[in-house]
Amino acid sequence: ESTLGAAAAQSGRYFGTAIASGRLGDSAYTSIAGREFNMVTPENEMKIDATEPQRGQFNFTAGDRVYNWAVQNGKKVRGHTLAWHSQQPGWMQSLSGSSLRQAMIDHINGVMAHYKGKIAQWDVVNEAFADGNSGARRDSNLQRTGNDWIEVAFRTARAADPAAKLCYNDYNTDNWTWAKTQAVYNMVKDFKQRGVPIDCVGFQSHFNNDSPYNSNYRTTLQSFAALGVDVAVTELDIQGASPTTYANVVNDCLAVSRCLGITVWGVRDSDSWRAEQTPLLFNGDGSKKAAYTSVLNAL
Ligand code: XIL
Repeated sequence: ESTLGAAAAQSGRYFGTAIASGRLGDSAYTSIAGREFNMVTPENEMKIDATEPQRGQFNFTAGDRVYNWAVQNGKKVRGHTLAWHSQQPGWMQSLSGSSLRQAMIDHINGVMAHYKGKIAQWDVVNEAFADGNSGARRDSNLQRTGNDWIEVAFRTARAADPAAKLCYNDYNTDNWTWAKTQAVYNMVKDFKQRGVPIDCVGFQSHFNNDSPYNSNYRTTLQSFAALGVDVAVTELDIQGASPTTYANVVNDCLAVSRCLGITVWGVRDSDSWRAEQTPLLFNGDGSKKAAYTSVLNAL
């Protein structure tokens, strides 16, 4: 196969990218993205600050721009993200307690109603666990509304759009030996046992020199899948873009039947949130990097 999306489709998977609405007027960008990928995640446009800038006043202008570009170009969409401590609008940052809990529920209902039936996977909750060795929840205004906020978010999401796969998404949950990984694993296990509706776990996979790829990545994906959820690589980028590491990630996903697909977090290095680490598959001039060829060959 000659594109990442077509190559991934050979095994029933997808190969996606984050898309930024502000770059859709750049024809070099859209020609690569249109050609290579068959899944799209809006990089910022479906986050809370973008979709509900004032309480109860939803704005889907930028989200729809990315959504429409994706669908018009034959791609599916991962929604990202409904409940998160970061990129909250000011009004939400200042809420707490039961009014914040209700605002979270209203937000999930408002956004999911707009995109009902149109989103393949939703990142319902993003980054709810703490870094380091505690295995604890991340302290946040949402966490302070009560430990059940995550399951409330998932139950609300299921009712709002029964067609979407509902994912928990996080970073530094790829190394099987880490406390954060085990904490998320235990939450998912508990949710499955108690019937809390969760369908998938997203592994952001922002690899850098402090949190590098580890060869137990496959064990992590396999272990979560064995709980009865799908897994996905949702925001892949690798400092320095080692072709070997990129191929390892692809091979690990392909080795796990419940790995739905891989999304890289941007198109060209110049589009990356970590551009100085040159972590992606295309150079700023649009040419293919060695990591691109390595991924294509591994798929
Ligand atoms: C990043 C975007 O790439 C940036 O443009 C933005 O300024 C900050 O957020 N984890 C996530 C993503 O779940 O939403 C983040 O995206 C990267 C880390």
